[in-house]
Amino acid sequence: MNDALEQMLEKQIDQLKKKKVFRALTVLESAQGPHVQIRGRTVINLASNNYLGLATHPRLVAAAAKATRELGVGAGAVRTIAGTLRIHQELEEKLAEFKQTEAALVFQSGFTCNLGVIESLLSKEDVIISDALNHASIIDGIRLSKAERRIYRHSDMADLEKHLRECQGYRLRLVITDGVFSMDGDIAKLPAIAALSEKYNAALMVDDAHSSGVLGRHGKGSVDHFNLHGRVDIQVGTLSKAIGVLGGYIAGSRQLVDYLIHRGRPFLFSTSHPPG
Ligand SMILES: Cc1ncc(COP(=O)(O)O)c(C=O)c1O
Repeated sequence: MNDALEQMLEKQIDQLKKKKVFRALTVLESAQGPHVQIRGRTVINLASNNYLGLATHPRLVAAAAKATRELGVGAGAVRTIAGTLRIHQELEEKLAEFKQTEAALVFQSGFTCNLGVIESLLSKEDVIISDALNHASIIDGIRLSKAERRIYRHSDMADLEKHLRECQGYRLRLVITDGVFSMDGDIAKLPAIAALSEKYNAALMVDDAHSSGVLGRHGKGSVDHFNLHGRVDIQVGTLSKAIGVLGGYIAGSRQLVDYLIHRGRPFLFSTSHPPG
């Protein structure tokens, strides 16, 4: 190995060990579920995002097996070349119906969805105002974009308003919040955030990764829970938590989806989901 690389890695790993945060991955020796096997023992699993137990639900397993048998194990291309299958579109139609929006678009994961959406929508004439405890993928999306950035104290509406008041003269102002915060589990003050966004003419993006399947009627998420349909411009969701599988999605207007089909880089340059 290259000397400089080896030294850098050794130093970083030593630091992790000194801080006692270096760890081996926990390996499940059984399927994901409320009880799992780890190192030969059956333990209660309180650490997954498989909130509804769908990761092993027989109907999902059968549907995935059927799709794999009929359509194969890979999509074979990015969506914009030859990788859009009819079932990708059916999934997007169902997601738009579920979220009560005009359209939806599926990305490889919730992480790539946040990267692609934030990076492609905002440029240097814009400003992003983001909750301090938003998910890492939102933080990385903000880092990738050329927009000005402001971080408001977690769920502090006075601080959010201060930033909105100060951020005048931008082409676009975008407020971003998790619907349910991924580490603390608290619910965003969405009615107040929506009202402030409207007052200062800012667009609003809500990442509902942890609320979908959990909050709202039939698990439609935090926007439904607070009855804010039509007042949140961009909804992000993931299939990797309560839905038990894999994939991120954006739900919003037809125009938003059309734009992302042309400009969302993970959508454009990374292969689509396998049929299963
Ligand atoms: C709020 C939030 N957004 C996005 C993601 C990323 O979702 P995915 O696992 O589908 O990449 C997560 C996952 O931890 C999350 O908690």
